[in-house]
Amino acid sequence: MNMNTSNSVCILGHGITYSRSPLIHNYWISKYGVDSRYGICDLPEEKLPAFLSSIREGKSAGCNVTTPYKQTVIQYLDAIDDAASTIASVNTIYCRGGQLRGTSTDGAGYIGHLKNTQPDLVLKNAKVLVLGAGGAARSIADALVKCGCSEIYIANRTLAKARDIAGLQPDIIKPLPWDDMQSVTGQVDLLINTTSLGMVERQPLVLPLENTRPDCVISDIVYAPLETRLLAQARELGRPVVDGLGMLLHQAVPGFQLWFGIEPQVTDELRALVEQDLLSHG
Ligand code: ATR
Repeated sequence: MNMNTSNSVCILGHGITYSRSPLIHNYWISKYGVDSRYGICDLPEEKLPAFLSSIREGKSAGCNVTTPYKQTVIQYLDAIDDAASTIASVNTIYCRGGQLRGTSTDGAGYIGHLKNTQPDLVLKNAKVLVLGAGGAARSIADALVKCGCSEIYIANRTLAKARDIAGLQPDIIKPLPWDDMQSVTGQVDLLINTTSLGMVERQPLVLPLENTRPDCVISDIVYAPLETRLLAQARELGRPVVDGLGMLLHQAVPGFQLWFGIEPQVTDELRALVEQDLLSHG
């Protein structure tokens, strides 16, 4: 892409096979009449320093970052915020006062979507069960602590990874062996699947939900398929549900705002556009 346009933005990675970020950001660029274009920048590692310097010099408003560079880019940045340092990973780069800065928007994206979908859910003093202990779980647990949740259980097959996340805030985050999750399902206000179980071509997440409280919000960050078995099961029981596609859309909001100073709306039209794309690209 032409990086001489000072307002251009892109997703930076290598071996990028497909990304939905151009669809999402170009929808907003057109909706808000921003003079920009969002493209794909697939670069070998040796070209990273020059590319990132070009953002510092104002030749581009910034970029998103995908594999394999979410950790690699950190060494080239002048600062990363708390959300990025918590997970040692950056997915959004922008420039302020000549400084190149990095953040991670996963946690904010999850919370944004949750608040949008379940405005009555009070996170202050809420009890939460998070399934999985990968990068997404870490971002979400960190964001939930910041929202004032009082107990966050992390159930993971590999307990050491759950213990590691608990180290962020040991008074609030409690590691739980995967097979013990049923000991807390009846107590929590929110249950979140952050594992890869339930994704297309993977095993489903099999979890009895009957003993969850009637108002317990059931949430899945998996978005392909749009309706996972966990969400279908929750809907059947009449539990409030929060899907994964909304998080994908909401995690793009902070980047657009940092680059262009406009807080973009996640509209039904955008959601329909991405749903259509998921159906055609899987
Ligand atoms: P991300 O960084 O995107 O969150 P990840 O690091 O690959 O993804 O994490 C995937 C999560 O799914 C992990 O918590 C993983 O459990 P382990 O830490 O034990 O590997 C979980 N997961 C994957 N397959 C699983 C399975 N069959 N049963 C239970 N958990 C599984």
